[in-house]
Amino acid sequence: MAGRPFILVVGARPNFMKIAPLYREMERRGLPLLLLHTGQHYDEKMSKVFFEDLGMPEPDVYLGIGSGSHAVQTARIMTEFDQVCDEHEPRGVVVVGDVNSTIACALVASKRWIPVAHVEAGLRSGDWSMPEEVNRILTDRLSDLLLTPSSDGNENLKLEGIGGEKVHLVGNIMIDTLLEHLESARKTGIVERLGLQRGEYGLITLHRPSNVDEENTLKPLIELLIELSSSLPLVFPIHPRTRARAEAFGVLSRLEQAENITLAPPLGSLEFQEMVGDGKVVLTDSGGLQEETTALGIACLTLRENTERPITVTEGTNTIVGSDPAVIRRAFSEIMDGGGREGKIPALWDGKTAQRIADILEKHMVEK
Ligand code: UD1
Repeated sequence: MAGRPFILVVGARPNFMKIAPLYREMERRGLPLLLLHTGQHYDEKMSKVFFEDLGMPEPDVYLGIGSGSHAVQTARIMTEFDQVCDEHEPRGVVVVGDVNSTIACALVASKRWIPVAHVEAGLRSGDWSMPEEVNRILTDRLSDLLLTPSSDGNENLKLEGIGGEKVHLVGNIMIDTLLEHLESARKTGIVERLGLQRGEYGLITLHRPSNVDEENTLKPLIELLIELSSSLPLVFPIHPRTRARAEAFGVLSRLEQAENITLAPPLGSLEFQEMVGDGKVVLTDSGGLQEETTALGIACLTLRENTERPITVTEGTNTIVGSDPAVIRRAFSEIMDGGGREGKIPALWDGKTAQRIADILEKHMVEK
């Protein structure tokens, strides 16, 4: 089908697995699409590997924005995306999640009267100090279609006066990706390559500025991880931001020398999914990982003071432990003693979210 395209925006690592199933579903329906990558994440391991693992084509448009302060990064994306809208006159723009690319493209489109759909709308941590919270709230204000992953999202939006026709509960699109790759993610061999035994290791991810940017927070966290690794081998695929901060604070070598911690580069999505699915526990400050562990039934300790994904706590396997070593230590011991939380899979986390979203986009984003 020719005509004015839908632009699907990706920018940073967590976006790729949210757009991949939607891209595929919309392509299957013959809808005109333009896949746009802002280049917020650009390293091979932060970006290219994901396109390959998830079976996504090369982006039609690559903006090559790169790193920078929030203002610089957002402004650069806006300037470039404005020109893309000039050239392609999209019928609608689809943004996902809460990264700088999300708000930047939503803002440009909305001021040009191009309809915006936000996938993963309505999530709120209540913590304005997180850049993602600012991005979420503003993107939702600007969006014409708000596609929520769980009913708490609808409630949050209602409290902010956003409701009615614009809001649709569609389920969690990351679970589409997770379920689709369940088989292939069992066969990457990464667990053995890292010298680990299935079910007998913990997986760490840390990259939030609130955990890694301050020496006084990062150093004690690293010491705690080294301590915990004496009772369970730990694997740490380290984010470039965290590696850079650890090096600057002189603690990267502590991690490198720790006998029971395996430092790894950022992993591809299939390898990572296998690591999560075969782990005993995940320690993380990521958003998406709180959901993936709930979907896979793996214990998760979230090293943050709050979560925008409360359903992973009320229904799933997630426990919020903050950054206090005593609290983390206690929760970790409970899991080691077999006291992890039983969880269930939330409603509409069923692998069919992309279909529901495509139905809504087809109906509401028509060519004018
Ligand atoms: C971004 C998102 C965050 C998301 C995370 C996933 C925002 C505000 N933050 O945080 O919500 O959870 O992605 O990873 O959008 N870098 C590289 N190579 C890359 C990309 C980044 O080395 O390919 C380094 C650069 O030094 C850069 C730093 O990582 O300055 C931070 O990257 P940036 O995209 O600004 O934020 P993230 O911390 O990755």
